[in-house]
Amino acid sequence: AASTVYEAEQATVLHGTVDADHTGYTGTGFVNSTNETGAYVEFAVHATAAGSAGLTFRYANGTTADRPGAVSLNGVVAATPQFTRTANWDTWAATTVTVMLTAGTNLVRVTSTTAGGLPNLDSLTV
Ligand code: GCU
Repeated sequence: AASTVYEAEQATVLHGTVDADHTGYTGTGFVNSTNETGAYVEFAVHATAAGSAGLTFRYANGTTADRPGAVSLNGVVAATPQFTRTANWDTWAATTVTVMLTAGTNLVRVTSTTAGGLPNLDSLTV
């Protein structure tokens, strides 16, 4: 099936800002979540049918440390990806996790699990 891009700046954000002070993002900006545990970005992902799907997060992490996150699907943690370092905040990378979507709307939430917070998040492609 064709993929759909969900821009982070249009998602629901708990503790963070939509910024555009680094280059290379798509859409109108990216989400800079607060450097804390528990900050999240939540996307409403539509699936026409139930089944396995890859969730690809486009992000930048210009620090010297990887940043972990927890990806939950409809409230249940489904994956715990590492957002590994990128060369700088203008360099974007992608990481994919595979989940089982239900038909209809799926709430995909990526939550910071350490005090450093999430990477800057540009988009989710499903
Ligand atoms: C820097 C950078 C931000 C980033 C932040 C962070 O301040 O400019 O875009 O979000 O570091 O550590 O998360």
